[in-house]
Amino acid sequence: MAQDELKKAVAKAALDHVAPYLDRDSVIGVGTGSTANFFIDYLADIRNDFDGAVASSDATAKRLKAHGIPVYDLNAVNELEFYVDGADETNDRLELIKGGGAALTREKIVAAVARSFICIADESKRVDILGDFPLPVEVIPMARSHVGRQIVRLGGDPVYREGVTTDNGNIIIDIHHMDLSRPIDVEERLNQIVGVVTNGLFARRPADVLLLGTHDGVKTIT
Ligand code: A5P
Repeated sequence: MAQDELKKAVAKAALDHVAPYLDRDSVIGVGTGSTANFFIDYLADIRNDFDGAVASSDATAKRLKAHGIPVYDLNAVNELEFYVDGADETNDRLELIKGGGAALTREKIVAAVARSFICIADESKRVDILGDFPLPVEVIPMARSHVGRQIVRLGGDPVYREGVTTDNGNIIIDIHHMDLSRPIDVEERLNQIVGVVTNGLFARRPADVLLLGTHDGVKTIT
């Protein structure tokens, strides 16, 4: 099965997972990326069964609106039962690397608010130890060199992601070759660097449910 078919299968499984809990007042958090896009397309099929969505990026907001799904500011929403999003890597503890699409900060905010974070990923994203995928860090532009030097002190190789500006007007530094065997520790250390907005490790707040698309079907991991 092609990778896109696995992504579609987990997107559909996520819809089946959340749909029974939605009512006309429900607002759902929606992530960013190709897997999340498949989820948005399925969500459109039931758009009269819930109120609207909170988007983790401008691109996601645009796609939701194109399907006629109302998009709310997170500050206007009282309750968010679910957040559904993809990942760049996941381990068996459902700790993630995210931010390949540069949307990590808003993704982390929506995930923090939601009661249940459902991660949807194809099996290529599953690893024993996080870190083959370069770890994205969103940085205030004027702090770029300072943050880069601090990352080197922590043992990583910082690479400026050329030509990318986040929805928040910041830059992305991708960290290569960093030891992520203790992800909570690294997540906290990176957050302490002045100029870092956030980093793409979701370890302090891992996913609650992983729907993993495999060639043997969708596996639910909690
Ligand atoms: C966006 O910033 C990322 O966190 C995405 O969730 C991640 O890159 C997964 O994207 P795909 O679903 O396209 O693999």
